[in-house]
Amino acid sequence: MAEMLDLSGKTAIVTGGARGLGFCIVNRLTEAGARVMIVDVAVDFAQAAVDYFADRGRDVRFEIADIRDLAQIQHAVDATVEAYGGVDILVNDAAFWRVVKFLDLTESTWDAVVDTGLKGTVFFTQAVARRMVEQGRGGRIVNVASVAGISMESSYGMLIPYVAAKSGVVGISQSLARELKPLGITINCVLPGGMMSAGAVHSSTELTPELREAMGEPGQVPVTDPDEVARVVFMLATPVSDFMHGATVVVDGGARLMIKK
Ligand SMILES: NC(=O)c1ccc[n+]([C@@H]2O[C@H](COP(=O)([O-])OP(=O)(O)OC[C@H]3O[C@@H](n4cnc5c(N)ncnc54)[C@H](O)[C@@H]3O)[C@@H](O)[C@H]2O)c1
Repeated sequence: MAEMLDLSGKTAIVTGGARGLGFCIVNRLTEAGARVMIVDVAVDFAQAAVDYFADRGRDVRFEIADIRDLAQIQHAVDATVEAYGGVDILVNDAAFWRVVKFLDLTESTWDAVVDTGLKGTVFFTQAVARRMVEQGRGGRIVNVASVAGISMESSYGMLIPYVAAKSGVVGISQSLARELKPLGITINCVLPGGMMSAGAVHSSTELTPELREAMGEPGQVPVTDPDEVARVVFMLATPVSDFMHGATVVVDGGARLMIKK
């Protein structure tokens, strides 16, 4: 088993790896010996993450790229290949949400959330899958969706663009599994429940009193440390999960089944 969990010699890209869940994923991948390229727009967080891991003897670099832009995606993949000689693992983690009432939803909010969460995931996957096929040694892709992508039972409403993006990620992960398995690439999808990440804290500070009232009292659903989810993403990046293709893996402490804290 220890051999299966060893990622020495492997190269991973983690989008959104500068903070939150992505940072915890970088931690687990590098702990197992992988080299990681963080791809993010948050320069200060990315640099702090690189410094944090360098202090612990881990090989982590970062490339600034907005994953909504296909040219920037390609540049980040090329930079990874240039730095490390190839790419074996991709984790599509970068995304964000905006709480907005449907009647107030604007096209720009829709575009920003869906282009990051869905389009960015699709075209990052395409750029990396092309590279993996060229390398001829297969690869592993893990998409981060959300329980909000399959059920609103344990999620707040007023997340229409985010729900569209995340249910899209669930769907494309299944569809792509059919195309990528014959190419030796596994792709699976993790659906976290509530996590206390930098993004979640920031998002809650942005809520107006009116939105807070419309959202109502938070339920008694579990909210967790992102590392609980990072460990499952890690498992999907290792040969432990060799037989998993197009899986939808819920990691929410039972929240979707309304199992309380
Ligand atoms: N926090 C939660 O409760 C929760 C629940 C379910 C799913 N998720 C999902 O987990 C993932 C991580 O979320 P988090 O809570 O750690 O968020 P976070 O905001 O703490 O981290 C997200 C990272 O993505 C980066 N990013 C955002 N847009 C980008 C872009 N266009 N290009 C490149 N990088 C970009 C941010 O700079 C940030 O570093 C996301 O996919 C999110 O939708 C979060």
